[in-house]
Amino acid sequence: SANESPAGRQPTATYDSPFMKACRREPVPHTPVWFMRQAGRSLPEYRKVRAGVPMLESCMRPELVTEITLQPVRRHGVDAAIYFSDIVVPLKAIGLDLDIKPGVGPVVEEPIRTRADLARLRDLTPEDVSYVTEAIGLLTRELGPTPLIGFAGAPFTLASYLVEGGPSRTYENAKAMMYGDPELWADLLDRLADITAAFLKVQIEAGASAVQLFDSWVGALAPADYRRSVMPASVKVFEAVAGYGVPRIHFGVGTGELLKLMGDAGADVVGVDWRVPLDEAARRVGPGKALQGNLDPTVLFASTEVVETRTREVLDAAAGLEGHVFNLGHGVMPSIDPDALTRLVDYVHTRTAR
Ligand code: CP3
Repeated sequence: SANESPAGRQPTATYDSPFMKACRREPVPHTPVWFMRQAGRSLPEYRKVRAGVPMLESCMRPELVTEITLQPVRRHGVDAAIYFSDIVVPLKAIGLDLDIKPGVGPVVEEPIRTRADLARLRDLTPEDVSYVTEAIGLLTRELGPTPLIGFAGAPFTLASYLVEGGPSRTYENAKAMMYGDPELWADLLDRLADITAAFLKVQIEAGASAVQLFDSWVGALAPADYRRSVMPASVKVFEAVAGYGVPRIHFGVGTGELLKLMGDAGADVVGVDWRVPLDEAARRVGPGKALQGNLDPTVLFASTEVVETRTREVLDAAAGLEGHVFNLGHGVMPSIDPDALTRLVDYVHTRTAR
């Protein structure tokens, strides 16, 4: 229709929103802000609607997903919504026996350790996740011009849960497979790349304006191992969605030494944690990419004055960037005062108004 943008099915007002412009490295009226894990336990209204509903079940109820996704947009006035789900949802959808344990994270009943185990990773079809298509349809109607970010876990981070069987600090089983049986590892990551790509396509076709690929735990690897054993699978995911023209964001924790490679994997926007200042991150990533980040989430436990000083430092470091999306360096912590987040959004908007 006349009010749809050339680059997809989204309304022109969404296409022209500050978040989308910053991702495309175009001039913006103010620096856009959103927060990883902005929907979640930091919000009392989230805890209320989630009461008694297990995490994975909540991800499969379109009305609940819509409500939870909208909560931080209403409360904080952030510049983008992130689809409420979890990185293990597509794995559950293809029939793996896994659960999200409160206070622990994803737990896989039978870890993937052998070639025979790969047979359990079948392709994902849109019908497997019809609740996602339905929820995004509801959401894009409610969101108006505010863009919706779809997301998925990257092959390495998904593999870390599947091979370990749950959260890990050392990734010893996953790395043992990567170092010791590179062919099995490559086949596992390739299977996960196909599942991830299919899951992102469902979200984009349903109306997501941008996508973020979370490789949260890939900072555990040396650059040479990333390049050899992980990058091909992440490249495959990004290439699979390149044709849609939606911005592709790529983020991991502790990835200072990998930023260039993660950008080269096919991201339009590179997410940076708090360990590398954004001006230095821009030098590492090189031209042609926007950056996202990177206030240390624990700064929000300090006074408003300290939050503002630290936010100014982030904005100053971002002053020369081609495009900047303000975010935390990792997710919102559940115990944070949500008013501190609302004040932070206002502060960034006011401080960067042009
Ligand atoms: O607002 C948003 O960012 C969207 C929601 C979102 C969730 N998970 C909801 C969730 C997103 C983007 C994720 C992605 C995700 N899940 C990642 C990548 C992002 C990151 O933080 O690095 C990872 C590694 C996971 C795996 C996972 N799921 C973990 C580590 C946990 C936390 C376990 C706990 O209880 O502390 C989960 C569960 C989870 N996913 C919760 C939420 C809101 C908490 C469970 C609950 O509220 O009941």
